[in-house]
Amino acid sequence: MKTILIPLLLVTLVEAWTTEPLKVRPSPSSSTSLNMGLRTTVKRVRDSVLNKERSREDLKIGIAGFYDRSSKLWEDVWGEHMHHGYYIPENRTDHQQAQIDLIDEVLDWAGAKEAKSVVDVGCGIGGSSRHIARRYGATAKGITLSPYQANRGNELAKEQGLEDSCSFQVADALDMPFDDNSFDLVWSLESGEHMPDKQKFVNELYRVATPGGRVIIVTWCHRDLEKGESALAKKEEKLLARINRAYYLPRWCSVQDYVDLLEAKGAVGIKREDWSYIIAPFWRAVIKSSLNLKSVVGLSKSGFSTIRGAYAMLLMLRGFDRGLIKFGLITFTKPEEKKSEEE
Ligand SMILES: C[S@@+](CC[C@H](N)C(=O)[O-])C[C@H]1O[C@@H](n2cnc3c(N)ncnc32)[C@H](O)[C@@H]1O
Repeated sequence: MKTILIPLLLVTLVEAWTTEPLKVRPSPSSSTSLNMGLRTTVKRVRDSVLNKERSREDLKIGIAGFYDRSSKLWEDVWGEHMHHGYYIPENRTDHQQAQIDLIDEVLDWAGAKEAKSVVDVGCGIGGSSRHIARRYGATAKGITLSPYQANRGNELAKEQGLEDSCSFQVADALDMPFDDNSFDLVWSLESGEHMPDKQKFVNELYRVATPGGRVIIVTWCHRDLEKGESALAKKEEKLLARINRAYYLPRWCSVQDYVDLLEAKGAVGIKREDWSYIIAPFWRAVIKSSLNLKSVVGLSKSGFSTIRGAYAMLLMLRGFDRGLIKFGLITFTKPEEKKSEEE
């Protein structure tokens, strides 16, 4: 028993300390702040052991820190796209091309034929924004919670000669710094799962879309509930709670939950699909890539939260294999404004 408990305690202690953003760590100069720091650490150890859901503020700070710490390693190993790939045929091994293909296939699936102005909500280091800007000759604005990512996104835009069409900034998807009706393509690829308030998230995507504009959400969801079910099984909730601690996620929802929110808003042309089977080979490929020397050295330098994120890949695999986790696609258009009768 001791052999399990001691490493577990150590791991959670390290988590409690290293996932704290540097700027809010207590200064050792005063005993009051040391006491407060100790109390915070004890609480975080307890929360971690119990896989407790994080508060919204902790989540926001945690997401920023997680991507600040892990994005360089991801880019070194996998390049500028921080999302799943498109695995048809399923044995393809050109993983970075598979990621680019996923963007194109999603845009085709959604019927996005043209775009002039794009917002990339939860943009990572901007891989989607730059690809979509090139594909349509559009301008793109990306937002992320991570200062490292925003900065790196702008650097890459410059390197790729796209600094006039693509820009990146730190901003919250739940309170976007953009006017209503600003973008004819609203794109969110694997960021929705981080949003603690799905209603607010959907409201914001809807608000910034132009009338007639298209919104595309690609996100991790849990399975739809069966008739007569009011919640997931305890075992399923437990697995998701462990993934949440590792990837800084709030409670999950289903694709049907998104559809319900969108129908209530009056979105038109709502379309949904489950692409879990198309992205299935991805996690195995990431796990394999994490075993090479460069990744192992990189992981050891990127801190505990990145190492824990790597371990949680196995939990993701388990969730997909059990049919609990779904790779959901949802698209809709914002209705055109009705002209008043006098016009
Ligand atoms: C898995 S990455 C995906 C990045 C990118 N879409 C891609 O596919 O390369 C998740 C992204 O969501 C962003 N994110 C999470 N919560 C956010 C929020 N509330 N506001 C803005 N961005 C957020 C993170 O900062 C990160 O950039």
